[in-house]
Amino acid sequence: MVDVNAAPNESPTTFPCWRALADLRDAGRPTLRDLFASDPDRGDRLGTVCADLWIDRSRQHLDEAVLDALTHLAEQRDVVGFLRRTADGEVVNGSEKRPASHQALRLGRDAAPSDIVATRDRMATLATAIRAGEEKGATGSTITALVQLGIGGSHLGPALAVDALAPFAHPDIEIRFSSSVDADDLAEALDGLDPASTLVIACSKSFTTIETLTALDGALAWLAGGLGDAAINHVLAVTAAPERAKALGVDVNRIYEIPVAVGGRFSLGSAVGLPVMVAIGPEAFDEMLDGMRVVDNLSATEPPDENAAIQLALIDVWNRCHLGRSSLAVVPYAHRLRLFAPWLQQLSMESLGKGTCENESDPETPTGPTVWGATGTDAQHAFFQLIHQGTDVIPVDLIGVVRPTVDDARSSKGAEVLMTNLAAQADALAFGRTADEVRADGVDEDLVAHRTFPGNRPSTAILLSELTPSTLGQLIALYENRTVAMAAVLGINPFDQWGVELGKKMALDLANESAPESALLRRASALRDS
Ligand code: F6P
Repeated sequence: MVDVNAAPNESPTTFPCWRALADLRDAGRPTLRDLFASDPDRGDRLGTVCADLWIDRSRQHLDEAVLDALTHLAEQRDVVGFLRRTADGEVVNGSEKRPASHQALRLGRDAAPSDIVATRDRMATLATAIRAGEEKGATGSTITALVQLGIGGSHLGPALAVDALAPFAHPDIEIRFSSSVDADDLAEALDGLDPASTLVIACSKSFTTIETLTALDGALAWLAGGLGDAAINHVLAVTAAPERAKALGVDVNRIYEIPVAVGGRFSLGSAVGLPVMVAIGPEAFDEMLDGMRVVDNLSATEPPDENAAIQLALIDVWNRCHLGRSSLAVVPYAHRLRLFAPWLQQLSMESLGKGTCENESDPETPTGPTVWGATGTDAQHAFFQLIHQGTDVIPVDLIGVVRPTVDDARSSKGAEVLMTNLAAQADALAFGRTADEVRADGVDEDLVAHRTFPGNRPSTAILLSELTPSTLGQLIALYENRTVAMAAVLGINPFDQWGVELGKKMALDLANESAPESALLRRASALRDS
């Protein structure tokens, strides 16, 4: 019997607490200036600790009444129960009738299923050999480079982690990624590498994704240029469809399986993370998994009012569904988190971009927001103008790393400046600058309107003490659980992605000429021939 409706079947909009939230919104909310004026300690009061992360919700439009109603909503929806059932491996992915098993990947040896431990051990054996310079290629050369081919969940998580944890990486091993079907992407990834000392990982859960299979063709041709018939011996496959990899000639000993019930965007802890393990080593990879597990446990056990992932999800529901904020900007003040926004875009929008509820009704409320972002301070000099003075109110997540990974004076100074900028932006967004304050600065009257900042623009600050494998794992798991928690409130399935499947199928049909002729393709071919 499939139990997909972990949360009640009705729309959340029928709940009294949902109506209470609508009434609170309609009554008009105090401004952030007013909220801080009447409660100067709210910065501490609305701070939440989640493992090694500190979350400051004080610059959101939350007061006691809103917080109570939101927390009640999470209770009525049994969001903790949904997160627990996800962790326990129950069937929570209704449309695909299976569990969402990503949290099992993060369990320790004693608790993880034996197939997961076995794959992790095989990954560790390979990673250790490569790191020790003991892994040899077909011609006897030492393997010093790894190129992972994959897209979406088979790319974004490992690319984020390899980049974020570069200071922990083996100095002599080159890790590269290629995700696009565009040949320029693969050419860039292979540039300067020697086929004799390079392994290519074809990473595709389905092993049918056209982008990855096309890139694999290109990579095999490149390998064959140096290795001839032995090219296939330099290909590893990471997949939930091992028979497809075998059919392409990949040796069974070079296939690393991922469980079919692990969604691509949640798959970093699986063999999809092999390049991360090679880069930072099996022990540090375990530390990343441990960090994820700590947050998984907190998310599945703490009551909603103390549960960081659920509180963040409730803020998302409040901003999106009640205050009509259609997008969320995410701005990490850390160069090493520059790939966080692309990773989060897939996680959030593939999970929450749904127009059908679990019970097959249309949602009576907006679902996921558009997610976008870039690192601060670059973002300040690109799109913050719109966030400060544009006509849309855009909630922002400001992510800060307090201590630099490298402990020297220059890095410490840089980290300090970044934190100062983060704090300044949070306050500028929240409190703005009134016309009177601008005038008091002696600004010419004809410029007063231009230099007035409306303020009252919400942000959440998330601080990491430092960026390590463990805290990165915590941050990733926090956003995963937050995403799943929002879906549980709204009654949508965060684990399927039918919207993307249609485009994939149509592209294949067009390529195989089994679809009606496309005017766009006709035009493209005319342009090509002109
Ligand atoms: O983008 C759609 C999607 O199905 C994602 O969910 C997935 O991460 C990506 O394609 C890649 O799929 P695969 O790992 O099967 O190649």
